[in-house]
Amino acid sequence: MQLEKSPLPARPASARILLSTPATGNDPLSEPMIIFEDCSYRYPHAGALRPALDKVDLAIGTGELVAVVGANGSGKSTLARMANGLLLPDGGSVRVKGMSTAEPGNLDAIRETVGMVFQNPESQIVANSVEDDIAFGLENIGLPVAEIEERIEEALGVFGLEELRGREPHWLSGGQKQRTVLAGVMALQPGLLVLDEPTSMLDPRSQREFIDYIDSLRRDGTAIIYITHIMREAATADRVVVLSEGRVVADAGPREVFSDEGLLRSAGLDAPLPVRLSRALDAPVALTLEELVG
Ligand SMILES: Nc1ncnc2c1ncn2[C@@H]1O[C@H](COP(=O)(O)OP(=O)(O)OP(=O)(O)O)[C@@H](O)[C@H]1O
Ligand SMILES: [Mg+2]
Repeated sequence: MQLEKSPLPARPASARILLSTPATGNDPLSEPMIIFEDCSYRYPHAGALRPALDKVDLAIGTGELVAVVGANGSGKSTLARMANGLLLPDGGSVRVKGMSTAEPGNLDAIRETVGMVFQNPESQIVANSVEDDIAFGLENIGLPVAEIEERIEEALGVFGLEELRGREPHWLSGGQKQRTVLAGVMALQPGLLVLDEPTSMLDPRSQREFIDYIDSLRRDGTAIIYITHIMREAATADRVVVLSEGRVVADAGPREVFSDEGLLRSAGLDAPLPVRLSRALDAPVALTLEELVG
């Protein structure tokens, strides 16, 4: 896979957004890209079980890469489904560029802003060829044909899918399917990307390249919610949000979060390898191997 930076229009980077920053007016540049405010959700038929999300406050601005980590069942995918109104909160609110997901008239605009990559790529493949699958979303937003063709070529190139362009997606490998879905969503150039374990089926080299690609999108102003079980990936984010039983138990820089052994233990998480090595060596906390040896 050769991942290259896509030529996204430059957008102004906003200042760091603090937890539960209140919305102020409707100017998109003064608004965080997305705000979850006191957001709770309980799945219907889940009986007396605790809510899947419990009073979550989270705000993410343009150009911010926020990793979301937590044990199985901690509410990460539920949070993702809330971001584009696929699920609506039964307490609190979710607003994308100031638009509440609870307002049906906002959903088209919200879904044009929020690009979602679900945990299971199968669920997101709609067409009979890789190329048509990428075209599908672009046609839906009504882009001119020439622009659609240009974006398809670029996405095929970025995700190393040129030779698979005519193939039926259901017969591809897991990683190839995941790349098809990623290519389709990235081609839409969304302002907010919500990625639910997007590299779970990619080989290690493609995983590294994908992280670099995401980093270039962030530099161009895309806001990114990056759900992952790979702590090495979370360590490259601007902020790490830790979910435990549906609650945000930490929202801070990766160094702060991964230095807190008690927090990680109670959330059922491990620190990334370099952090564990630096602890064993009694050295200052290192987030990368380069930092540890340098
Ligand atoms: N469709 C559903 N119906 C009922 N309960 C659900 C449904 N989907 C998830 N849940 C429950 O909601 C809680 C949060 O699930 P969620 O899928 O958000 O967790 P997650 O953090 O994404 O986990 P994983 O790491 O396994 O992907 C869990 O207790 C789960 O059992
Ligand atoms: Mg999940």
